[in-house]
Amino acid sequence: AAPTAHDPKGLAAIAARIAERAAARILELRAQGVDVAASKSSATDVVTAADQESERLIVAAIQDVRPDDGILGEEGTGIAGTSGITWVIDPIDGTVNYLYDLPAYSVSIAATVADETAYGDGRRAIAGAVCNPRTDELFVAWEGGGATRNGEPIRITGQDDLSLSLVATGFGYTAERRTEQAEMVARVIPRARDIRRCGSAAYDLCMLAAGRLDAYYEQGLQPWDYAAGVLIASEAGATLIGRDAATPPGESFMVVGAAGLVEELRSLALGE
Ligand code: IPD
Ligand code: CA
Ligand code: CA
Ligand code: CA
Repeated sequence: AAPTAHDPKGLAAIAARIAERAAARILELRAQGVDVAASKSSATDVVTAADQESERLIVAAIQDVRPDDGILGEEGTGIAGTSGITWVIDPIDGTVNYLYDLPAYSVSIAATVADETAYGDGRRAIAGAVCNPRTDELFVAWEGGGATRNGEPIRITGQDDLSLSLVATGFGYTAERRTEQAEMVARVIPRARDIRRCGSAAYDLCMLAAGRLDAYYEQGLQPWDYAAGVLIASEAGATLIGRDAATPPGESFMVVGAAGLVEELRSLALGE
């Protein structure tokens, strides 16, 4: 069969424009105050009306320009498409920061294609955008096109000495998972420069891409948390690995950073 002709650059422009619009909207809604609409997997796992409105806005905007694409969203969107492109969206990544008005939250939008080997969820982003309206930052990447922050090319630090590395991570919402994640941090912290828990996986990956962090690892991420961010990080020079050679990066585990650092950080975090 002939290869499907997708246009990663054009898809990235769509992702960027819609991410900016949704980000502007959630900022506007934030100014009106936030209420927790519901709890999901646990009392700590919250969703606000803004998460839901942002997802609706993004879905409508995508369908307006790309009616044949699939869409997968954290707040319940699951649309099967026919074009071979599935948009994977997180309407607010960092909802707890949003709730507290901590300036580390973002809108994440990625255009993905089926790829059984690349990531644990069987999809690979070919274009993506992450927008943080509180810092006025828009990160964009498309496959083979490099990564940018507000239009300027970005690059990872390349640091491969763990003792000199600022390492970010995140925690899931269940007590069981957090106990495991605390054990991982306990193994990493004595050997790294320091640890950061910024609260938005998508934004963490962009900060890594921009050289503000040296490495990032997390267990338990969902596709919408990482779809755009991993593309932005890898286009900025980062290497990504999963739990082991047979498991691609994804929900089970991922480490992102300089090629010479990720293996050491992986085995340390996993306690191997
Ligand atoms: C969460 C954030 C957080 C990460 C969690 C995610 P949400 O997403 O990305 O940094 O540690 O694993 O669930 O719920 O704020 O969209
Ligand atoms: Ca959530
Ligand atoms: Ca998320
Ligand atoms: Ca979210």
